[in-house]
Order: sequence, then C-alpha cells, then structure tokens
Amino acid sequence: MSKISDRLNRLSYSQTFVMSNKAREMKAAGIDVISLTLGEPDFDVPQKIKQAAFDAINENYSHYSPVPGFPELRQAISDKLKRDNHLNYKPTQICVSNGAKQSIINVLSAIINDGDEVILPAPYWVSYDEMVKLVGGTSVFIETSIDTEFKITAEQLEKTITPKTKALLYSSPCNPSGSFYTVEELEAIANVIAKYPEITIISDEIYEFINYEGKHVSIASFPQVYEQTAVINGMSKAYAMTGWRIGYSACPDWLAKACDKVQGQMTSGANTVAQRASITALEMDPSELKFMIDEFHKRRDIVFDLMKDIKGFKCNLPKSAFYFFPDISYFIGKNLNGTEIKDSDDFAMFLLENAKVACVGGVSFGSPECIRFSYAASEAELREAMKRMKDCLGQF
Ligand SMILES: Cc1ncc(COP(=O)(O)O)c(C=O)c1O
Repeated sequence: MSKISDRLNRLSYSQTFVMSNKAREMKAAGIDVISLTLGEPDFDVPQKIKQAAFDAINENYSHYSPVPGFPELRQAISDKLKRDNHLNYKPTQICVSNGAKQSIINVLSAIINDGDEVILPAPYWVSYDEMVKLVGGTSVFIETSIDTEFKITAEQLEKTITPKTKALLYSSPCNPSGSFYTVEELEAIANVIAKYPEITIISDEIYEFINYEGKHVSIASFPQVYEQTAVINGMSKAYAMTGWRIGYSACPDWLAKACDKVQGQMTSGANTVAQRASITALEMDPSELKFMIDEFHKRRDIVFDLMKDIKGFKCNLPKSAFYFFPDISYFIGKNLNGTEIKDSDDFAMFLLENAKVACVGGVSFGSPECIRFSYAASEAELREAMKRMKDCLGQF
C-alpha cells in the first residue's frame, strides 16, 4: 500500500519545474545551457514598490492580516478593476491570496464536488488539470490547434457542456499559447455560459498587461455572466513580483465568502509586507509598466523572425504573454540520432541534450505536438538559443 494518498498519486510533477531543474543541474555540472523554461519576467521590481515594502517593515506590518487581505489592498484592487477593466467589485468581493495559483485553487475548492466536470480549453496552463484532480473534479478538454490560434469557439464550448459541468477555466492572455480572446469571441462564450447558471467561469487574467495588440477585456464585463465569473489576477507577471506571492480573486458575494472560508483554514492572510507593497504597485499608472511590455514586444519580434528559419517549427505570432508555442509535429515519430521522438516531451529533452536549450514539452499543457519557450530572457540568450536550435535541427 502506498503511504502517499491516491489523490496525490494521481498528480503529476509540473513539467516546467522538471525541465528547469534538469537545466539547472546541467549548468551546475558546467554545461552551457540556455533555459527558456520558466514564465518569469527577468526585470527587477520597480523601486517604488520595493520602498513600500521597506516602509511596511519599518511600520511593523508584522502581524496576521485579515484572511482575505488588508481592506486598503482590497480597495486598491477594487479601484484597479474599475480603472482598467470597467468592473464593479466591492472590496468584500475580493480575496487576496498567495499568488493567483492559490486564488484558483480556492475557487475550485469552493465549488467542485467529486466527479464535477471542469472544462479546460487545451492548451491550458499546466497546473489547471492537476488542481482539478486535487479537488476531486474531472477535467474535460476542448482541443484546439495552431490554425485557430489555439482558441475554442462558442460552438465547441456548448457541445462540451454536460449536466455535470461546474466550471470553465482558461487564461486569456493564454499561457502557453500567447493568444487572447477578442471582445466578440468572449461575448459569444459569455452568451453560451449565461444559459447555464450553475456553471462558473474562472477567468485567469494574470497576463492582462502583457498584450501587444488591443486592450484586455475581462469576460466579467459582460453583464450576462458577471454573477457567474471569478476573475483571477495578481502581481507576479505585470510587476515582476513572482516571488512576492500576491494574487487575488474577484467574485460574486457567495463565492468570495467561500474563498475566504477555504483560505482561512489553509493559509490565512497573504504575506503582510507584500500586501502593503502591492497597494503601491496597483496605484501606479499602468503606463509606468510600459517599458517592460515594450521590451517583451521587441524580443517577441526578434524570436519570431529567427524561429521561422528553424526546420520543422510551425509557429504563429503570439499576441500576448511571453511565450512561443510552436507546433513540432514534423519531428514526432522520427528517430533523431538514435532518440525516438514519441511526443513533444521527448523532443524537449532532445533539444536540451543536443542543442543545450531548455524548453517545456506540450504534453502537460494538453498539446503533445507543441513545445513552449518563454522569451522572458535576455536578447543575447534568445538569439543564441535560436541559433543553437537552427543548427541542431537543420540536419534532420
Ligand atoms: C496562466 C497562469 N496563471 C497563474 C499563474 C500563477 O501566478 P502566481 O505567481 O500569481 O501564482 C501563472 C504562473 O505562471 C500562469 O502562467
């Protein structure tokens, strides 16, 4: 009998961490590896935000905060949602967590019974399926492909809904595909979900600001689904605050209370210093973040140009977030210098060992024919990585 629970045994390790750890081990062994595995901005936290954290320490913000966060932070989030997304949420509808990751598991824990279905458009962020398993739910996938920019249609969604469907969970802008849903596409999805009041939309908007075309739209801004939507966002990506661990959910009252209840028994309020600093961050004008977005934009264009020359890569131009998700099905089923490539995880491992470039296979994102590269790395590293892959794959 396993000492580990069946529930945990059903979970996989995050493939992102598997590949990044392997790259780290190779580097430690003196091998020159370029790692494009992690979804983490390579910028420093803006000075103003750091100063707010120093001030919070000096002002002795060292005690437990209320479970769903300091009222001032929840007010700042409420103001931000109004300013940037035209959304009206009272501070009491907001729950601040240890990162958006916790916000998502709070919502899932609050609504999923054993056997309930959660619809995941594929590709999806690696943790979604595992979180659904952890709370006893069943993920139901909707397949997409590079030809539709990895986006689902309202028709596909409607066909997938069953009496057991409890939630639709997706990210827009999307990790890993870098696509985002347009206003029209979101409205069509909203119109379908509005017919099923028992379904909750969990709308992960953590990449909201990293968008090179068009303005971000939250599905919660469609009145027909406002009462059915949990908006998820956080400080990690836009403010380069991944390690500070602040995320939040904005929900209808009943769900906000439920998130508070879950979090109260699991972790209590999030880190107080990071909460205080997040108030300053959210009060900044979003234009102050533009330098990071401009830099990501520039790198995206460089990588896109170079990737076109890599044999066997079919790539679309991602419009948001900081990932490329090329289709590498050309290599699947091939034998590359003695390595059998059954899926994109094998291919990612082949690239790591032969081109010394680390990326993540698409299997755990629900797209076994694609691989994910983060371009949150320096321009020099990105150029060198593309050259290495071009040279390595050119022979096949
Ligand atoms: C789509 C998506 N949602 C949520 C998260 C988690 O963000 P946080 O650092 O706030 O937990 C990530 C992080 O990579 C992500 O890519």
